[in-house]
Amino acid sequence: RKPLTTARMRKMKQDGVPITMVTAYDYPSARLSEEAGVDVILVGDSLGNVVLGYDSTLPVTLDDMVYHTRAAVRGASNTFIVADMPFFTYHGSLDTTLKGVARLMQEGGAKAVKLEGGAEIAATVKAITEAGVPVIGHLGLTPQSVHQLGGFRVQGRSSEQAEKLLSDAKAIEEAGAFAIVLELVTDELAEWITKQLSIPTIGIGSGVHCDGQVLVYHDLLQYGSDSAPRKFVKAYANIGETIREGIREYVKEVKERAFPTQENTFHMDNDVVQYLYG
Ligand code: KIV
Ligand code: NA
Repeated sequence: RKPLTTARMRKMKQDGVPITMVTAYDYPSARLSEEAGVDVILVGDSLGNVVLGYDSTLPVTLDDMVYHTRAAVRGASNTFIVADMPFFTYHGSLDTTLKGVARLMQEGGAKAVKLEGGAEIAATVKAITEAGVPVIGHLGLTPQSVHQLGGFRVQGRSSEQAEKLLSDAKAIEEAGAFAIVLELVTDELAEWITKQLSIPTIGIGSGVHCDGQVLVYHDLLQYGSDSAPRKFVKAYANIGETIREGIREYVKEVKERAFPTQENTFHMDNDVVQYLYG
């Protein structure tokens, strides 16, 4: 199958066909996502939390993103793969920003990049787009600004917040972005913004009216986290439990010498055995 294009994603919005996105960070997660038929893979900087064990996305570096993007691309060469620009790699000089974008595309193999922020980064989005790189925006709860936002809370409950979010979304659209992620935005506001944009919105925790949905791989599969899924996450599998049980059984069988069995064992010819044992 052919990877999706930005033009086809826009067409999907017009036709009312939901766009499916999932995060993936390495060869197996990307490969399984592609085999499952996902439209777009996001190598999110959420890898800081779910793969690297940090308590936020702030420590994630451009090197981390390049490394994980390259692994994901190897696993899903027929899927449109987007890479996150990590914290503070697009707020300095334009030259530095574009060099980072180039690394994600050339070394990582990404087809597009995603940046968090509104009107304040519109000029940057425009410059990246004009360099020929497709850009996805990210508004609402933007985890890279968690300390400024004062925690992980739902965005866009008041009319002032709603107006601000809409004008940010329009600024990012006008700057040339081909889609916008809306994170933890109220259902009503996400629908209102979705209707007023001609580019698709991809929601996470933002209701069913967005043009697409995205979830974090480790959240939707309950992989590596014991915490109950948050309200906006649905757990479609519990692979963490499956993995833990599998390893527990392996440990038990080794302790009991129940593994390996003859089936897993190789033998010498008898005369060599006799030579060894005399
Ligand atoms: O890093 C990430 O996983 C994301 C999605 C939640 C949109 O940015
Ligand atoms: Na992210």
